[in-house]
Amino acid sequence: MLLPYPTSVVMVALFSMTMMMMLCGGDLHKKIDITWGNGRAQMLNNGQLLTVSLDAASGSGFQSKDHYLFGHFQIQLKLVPGNSAGTVTSFYLQSEGSTWDEIDFEFLGNLSGNPYILHTNVITQGKGGREQQFYLWFDPTSDFHTYSILWNPLCVILYVDGIPIREFKNYESRNISFPMKKPMRMYGSLWDAEDWATKGGVIKTNWSAAPFIAYFKNFFVNACVESTPPSIKSSCTHLNKKNNNHNSVGEKWITQELKPSEVDKLNWVHKNFMLLDQEFDITWGDGRAKMLNNGELLTLSLDKASCFGFQSKNEFLFDKIDMQLKLVSGNSAGTVTAYYLSSKGSNWDEIDFEFLGNVSGEPYILHTNVFSNGKGNREQQFYLRFDPTTDFHTYSILWNPQLIM
Ligand SMILES: *[C@@H]1O[C@H](CO)[C@@H](O)[C@H](O)[C@H]1NC(C)=O
Ligand SMILES: *[C@@H]1O[C@H](CO)[C@@H](O)[C@H](O)[C@H]1NC(C)=O
Ligand SMILES: *[C@@H]1O[C@H](CO)[C@@H](O)[C@H](O)[C@H]1NC(C)=O
Ligand SMILES: *[C@@H]1O[C@H](CO)[C@@H](O)[C@H](O)[C@H]1NC(C)=O
Repeated sequence: MLLPYPTSVVMVALFSMTMMMMLCGGDLHKKIDITWGNGRAQMLNNGQLLTVSLDAASGSGFQSKDHYLFGHFQIQLKLVPGNSAGTVTSFYLQSEGSTWDEIDFEFLGNLSGNPYILHTNVITQGKGGREQQFYLWFDPTSDFHTYSILWNPLCVILYVDGIPIREFKNYESRNISFPMKKPMRMYGSLWDAEDWATKGGVIKTNWSAAPFIAYFKNFFVNACVESTPPSIKSSCTHLNKKNNNHNSVGEKWITQELKPSEVDKLNWVHKNFMLLDQEFDITWGDGRAKMLNNGELLTLSLDKASCFGFQSKNEFLFDKIDMQLKLVSGNSAGTVTAYYLSSKGSNWDEIDFEFLGNVSGEPYILHTNVFSNGKGNREQQFYLRFDPTTDFHTYSILWNPQLIM
């Protein structure tokens, strides 16, 4: 095998092999342990195929022998066909401990003929609440499809058949935690989640169709193996150094981000197949604020009893935030629609857009303010050049150490 290549090329190839771990289809026995289910999960065809099954007594699952700190993980999966309501097939990465990190693909089964929901989450330091859910654009039970997780120091990207469906960027600079330090194992399982998966348990698992079976194959893992105990260095040794140069891993995936051509695909998925995006929490108003259109549209309503509101899940330190907003039409005098950033405490900072309603036909006033250390009095008010009630317009806040715009 060495003959056709100039020596230097061979040296480079061997060098990067020692740092990286690769696992392809036939290697399953070497790299994966079946960990639970009492025989319900099996490796077949000389480790080419892995089946997981679920019946009324138990589900089953497997995990990788190794821990990884960053990698590109790809599997092919064929889901439980027919009536799979209540079953969840999962493929995920997870670290250990009470402040664990986790990156999830979970497939929520459904009644025959109804679509599966692909539920995704990114949990950092034990905190999740970042669910995004999708329908798939194909029947995931009729054939194998490819699901992959790219996890590097810059981002986490989830792909379905090579199409990006979710991007979670490293915003540690904005004080949002990112899975950076904790090695994770790769896991897969089939389990019963009837109390959760079918709208909080409305539809029960129909055990007369058991055992339910899902099929995994073609594992492809290109990752940095972290030895246990973790005091021993990662196989991507440079990653343990400060000011590391990720490029020195010599693999494309370690610096890969969403390409411009992929952004269109991601938007296509979000526009057409996204069901739920929990970037915002509705925080008050007793049901007067509602997420519609699969989380794409948030409506707020006001009556005599109360107002409503929402807040972002994450706290930001510097950002550019765009919001599209369509205001209360007609006689909106006395109402205020607000969109703002605010910190907590008595010496808070705040950046405000407030839209003061008016009687029909009269213009809204856009009231702005910037508070620092609890002190405001920097109001500026504007009329708008357009009618903000007939259509959505974009209002952005740019906030960085130099300026607020
Ligand atoms: C099942 O299918 C129904 C009908 O399309 C849908 O409303 C529901 O969200 C689907 N998923 C689950 C997990 O119930
Ligand atoms: C960063 O986030 C943590 C946890 O959410 C919080 O306790 C801390 O106050 C935040 N720091 C800044 C500078 O916002
Ligand atoms: C459960 O599945 C069986 C066939 O597998 C079907 O005859 C029965 O009606 C189903 N039960 C429910 C409650 O849907
Ligand atoms: C409402 O319209 C009137 C007439 O143009 C204007 O004087 C007033 O400032 C507007 N805004 C509010 C909040 O009343």
